[in-house]
This record gives sequence, structure tokens and C-alpha cells, in this order.
Amino acid sequence: MTVIDDLFAAALAAQNCAHAPYSRFRVGAAIRSSSGTIYSGCNVENAAYPVGSCAEAGAISAMVAGGDTAIGEILIVGDGDHLVTPCGACRQRIREFATPATPIHIAGPEGLRQSFTLEALLPHSFGPDNLTKVKP
Ligand code: THU
Repeated sequence: MTVIDDLFAAALAAQNCAHAPYSRFRVGAAIRSSSGTIYSGCNVENAAYPVGSCAEAGAISAMVAGGDTAIGEILIVGDGDHLVTPCGACRQRIREFATPATPIHIAGPEGLRQSFTLEALLPHSFGPDNLTKVKP
């Protein structure tokens, strides 16, 4: 077992629960929080298309509801030949609870494909620090 096998298994299990009747593109995400707990999520689409939510958003909600506020690493799994890297909005969602060095692992059904840092996917990002360093 590699160090991310447990994350991959959790993301795969969540992907299996995805509600994606419109795109038919099922995505799973799993976060290892700083406390070591694993939280997962899947995409949940809606007949009113823009209301749908991404797997990463679900996993982050589960983490926050579970009392954790720091992402140690996150893994996203999706089907197809392309890397299922997080959408722009989800990169920003991850940013809220991560550091520039936080690993973002991208997997396909067969396993890990590539790992990035948050900084690589969202350079020069805007985060909580930007708000605390404003002079009164
Ligand atoms: N999707 C995710 O859940 N995460 C990603 O990283 C990329 C896209 C979902 C949104 C939508 O339900 C479907 O995949 C097709 O875009």
C-alpha cells in the first residue's frame, strides 16, 4: 500500500456515489485533513444545471462539518484519458484550507496519474492572508 492508497480508495468509493445524470462524468475527491481524518465527496448535479456541485466542494464541506480546517492533501479521481484537475472555482475552494505546498493528486480509475502542488495549479493566489494584512 502506498501512502495515498487510502485516499484513492475513499475517492473511488465517493465517485461511485456521484449523481451525474446530465454530464455522465462522475468525479470523486478525498481529503486527508491535518488531523489525519479522511473526508470524501462526489459531484452532485441538478436538473437546474448551474446548481450542481463538484466533488471537491463536497469533500471540503464534509471536512469542515467534521471539525477540520486544514487540507493535508487531496486526491481527485475521474474517468477518461485527460487529467481531472480541479476547476478554477475548486482550486480557490481548496486554497482556503491549504498552503502553496499542499499536494493535489490526480487519479484515473487505474490509480495515480500526476501530483501537483496548489501553487502549481493556482499561482499567485488570493487567500485568507490577503484579508488579515490590510491596514485599518
Ligand atoms: N467536476 C468535478 O466534480 N470536479 C472536477 O474537478 C471537474 C468537474 C464535475 C462537475 C460536473 O458535475 C461534471 O464533473 C462535469 O463537468
